[in-house]
Amino acid sequence: MCGIVGYVGSRRVVPVILEGLRKLEYRGYDSAGIVYYQDSKLIKYRCEGKLSALEALIDDAIIAPSHIGLGHTRWATHGAPTTENAHPHTDCTGELVLVHNGIIENYHSLRLELQAKGHVFKSQTDTEVLVHLIEDYLENDLVAAVQQALTRVEGSYAFGLFWAQMPDTLIAVRKHSPLVLGVDESGAGYIASDIPALLPYTNQVIFLEDGEMAVIKENDMQVFDSVSGNRVQKEATTITWNAAMAEKAGYKHFMLKEIFEQPMAIRNTISGRINPETGEVTLAEINLSDEDFCNIDRIFLVACGTSWHTALVAKYWIEKYAKIPVDVDIASEFRYRNLLINDRVLTISISQSGETADTLAGIRLAKQLGSKVITICNVVGSTMTREADGTVYTHAGPEIGVASTKAFTSQLAAFFLFTIFLGEKRGTLETEKKLELAAALIDIARVIEELLPVLQEQIAQLIEGYYDCSDFLFVGRGVNFPIALEGALKLKEISYIHAEGYAAGELKHGPIALIDNKMPVLAIAPQDDLYQKTISNVEEIKARQGRIILIGTEGDKHLNTITDAIIYLPKVHDEMNPILYTIPAQLLSYEIATMRGCDVDQPRNLAKSVTVE
Ligand code: AGP
Repeated sequence: MCGIVGYVGSRRVVPVILEGLRKLEYRGYDSAGIVYYQDSKLIKYRCEGKLSALEALIDDAIIAPSHIGLGHTRWATHGAPTTENAHPHTDCTGELVLVHNGIIENYHSLRLELQAKGHVFKSQTDTEVLVHLIEDYLENDLVAAVQQALTRVEGSYAFGLFWAQMPDTLIAVRKHSPLVLGVDESGAGYIASDIPALLPYTNQVIFLEDGEMAVIKENDMQVFDSVSGNRVQKEATTITWNAAMAEKAGYKHFMLKEIFEQPMAIRNTISGRINPETGEVTLAEINLSDEDFCNIDRIFLVACGTSWHTALVAKYWIEKYAKIPVDVDIASEFRYRNLLINDRVLTISISQSGETADTLAGIRLAKQLGSKVITICNVVGSTMTREADGTVYTHAGPEIGVASTKAFTSQLAAFFLFTIFLGEKRGTLETEKKLELAAALIDIARVIEELLPVLQEQIAQLIEGYYDCSDFLFVGRGVNFPIALEGALKLKEISYIHAEGYAAGELKHGPIALIDNKMPVLAIAPQDDLYQKTISNVEEIKARQGRIILIGTEGDKHLNTITDAIIYLPKVHDEMNPILYTIPAQLLSYEIATMRGCDVDQPRNLAKSVTVE
């Protein structure tokens, strides 16, 4: 995600844009930039790092006598967080300038086409392709040029555009990335990626819909269908949130917002990487050759915490579909054991931050021992992505809550992509199976999106009887066993309840001694190939008066014979259950923690990124 702000009106533009960007820093903070019009030319400032670095760069330009401009805080997806890659980006003339949020999926082919026409690119971003494409169509009608350019673009975008030859006009376009407009009583017009940027100046917001374009002048805001060009009538909505609430888009906590952002995060992670017709997967930044993938005879996965749970799930998938042995290690153990690693081993680290010290030390050691290294990571340009041979980025956007949610399910989606990719490279996946797996992955975001509102309400009621428990067990089998571990980790790290995750079949080897009529046990019991075994384990818990919560498949009436506390989930492909069954576990921990009055976003003793040993 990135933060976009635009303004045209009677105020001095630089302070308005900077204030708006401050409200959007949670959306992206690895680089920032601003552009405004003054003395018949565009003035542009950009820099790497946080917004404060841009403010220092701007210095006394803060009082520039300009009344129109655009600003941007970046969350890098294509191209490291450098000044050259920071927005705004300009065309060859330097008179057309644009800030963008989203992913231009076909940017590479468009870039080659435009370069062949003589366009000169200065960054590695997908965004810069957009402004050169508009330039390529631009004669004297900017709106028409934007419309023509959009017919060539695939992917998601929200962008603000400005042309020095139309110095009183901003253009805003939206498709699959958020963009809102604002108007105030002075007649000023605003653009923003999110409501918080507008609230210091106005609570009158116009929501741009996908496929709409706004042409904004002082005292004149018009919205059009970006394809037909037909005028669209829009009404302003009065926002009642305060600014602090609005940064969370009205959610009480970032964690809840990020739980609800998971459909978008998963879609953005797979966007442009999987062909629904063929099941073929392309991973542009993986940087290893087909030969590399065929030469390996073992894979080591290394990670910490929630990311280690991703690795545990990935082991099941890779061994099943790519037919290659996988070792999974907690990074702090990996780096100190006697590793049998050589150049026929592929080491993959999983990390939301890309800065976790133990994981970083693990991949450095693996490289020293001759292994190729790939990282699954959410932060472009983070240390791990710079030291690995190749990267598979998750595109979950900034994850602010310390408890990882959307990054986890995005990691699972990314690893499932990698599994299909590896199966293709090693010839272990039949086309039919590949298509089946691809379809399952493509559809899971929709399933979660439809499920979330209903599930949150159900779980908020369910926890009445559990939020004051002192202990909690989570159990699951097979590819869902790691989800039991993840559910337990979520609960303990934000509610401080002692929670353990176990393989359901392991209970009888000791942990079942813990079961009594006070002990809640959440069992993950989808109707998959281990269902009967799981139900047998649950019956053993029931026989000892355990307090059972079941998460199972819609329509499974047998569950009612075991407990009244049942969360039913839609039937999806068995391999998608780890992603789907994580959602209720996340919501359960969130609702219990908030009921207990815990600091959900910043739990005691924890940090978002553990950059120390
Ligand atoms: C997860 O909710 C925790 N915040 C923690 O376990 C985290 O997953 C772990 O520290 C690894 O972080 P990373 O993914 O950034 O490497």
